[in-house]
Amino acid sequence: MSTTFQIDTSTSRATPTPAPMKRLTVPKITRRKQDGETAEPLVMLTAYTARQAQLLDPHCDMLLVGDSLGQVIYGLPSTLAVTMDMMCAHGAAVVRGSYHALVVVDMPFGSYETSPQQAFENASRIMAETGAAAVKLEGGTAMAETIAFLSARGIPVMAHVGLTPQAVNALGGYMARGRSEAEHAKIIADGRAVAEAGAFAVVAEGVVEDIAIALTTAVAVPVIGIGASARCDGQVLVTEDMLGMFERVPRFVKKYGDIAEFISEKASEYARDVRAREFPGPEQIYPAKAD
Ligand code: KIV
Repeated sequence: MSTTFQIDTSTSRATPTPAPMKRLTVPKITRRKQDGETAEPLVMLTAYTARQAQLLDPHCDMLLVGDSLGQVIYGLPSTLAVTMDMMCAHGAAVVRGSYHALVVVDMPFGSYETSPQQAFENASRIMAETGAAAVKLEGGTAMAETIAFLSARGIPVMAHVGLTPQAVNALGGYMARGRSEAEHAKIIADGRAVAEAGAFAVVAEGVVEDIAIALTTAVAVPVIGIGASARCDGQVLVTEDMLGMFERVPRFVKKYGDIAEFISEKASEYARDVRAREFPGPEQIYPAKAD
């Protein structure tokens, strides 16, 4: 079990030591939406490691320890095999690496669907072991009772509707949701149900734009879009996707860089230096003490 939520600044490889500051809280995030309007959209990115959290923290209102780490970090084919142990370990690392953003940790598949009690046991473990302030879970109307149960017991819940990756087998893939009238109505009903149940924010993923806008107008809490609309109350992306770590990304990802190319180039330069016996050079070795 993780017991430390603080970086040991005397041994940390990162510098400088961030000044202590007050973290954003759940009420502060929900209050950003006033009378149905969010003047400045909320910024959220995924983070899975302490160093990534340190770099993203100054720029983000929220950091999401997404179960997308199953694919991004562990090379799994979907999020379904992600475990509570993984979420707790990465959640604690992200809390250690951040000072300002609200940290939200995903509840993995199978950890909350059985009953509100099962959800409470696992959500409380995530919060106790990571120090995060909130959890996220997927599902709409079917999860409303669980969201109400957790919220009433001090566990802030971010809901996730529309394209819910943990339901990939039921949905038949990762395509955008809401193209039929029935689906459109269901997504709006799901969003309303989770907001009324007490969710402090709702992620709307992979939905056609008019649904995203209608949902943002329909609920009092912030709607965070991913593959949704710039008119949502905020946006989230998987950090590695927007940094260009992968060749294949969903249509909704904007690539802000090409980190895969950078890593590959630098690894190739290193390999060349090693093979040519040019690394380590004089600056990287410990010379023998002069007599
Ligand atoms: O797991 C995740 O990273 C997510 C976001 C993409 C919303 O749920």
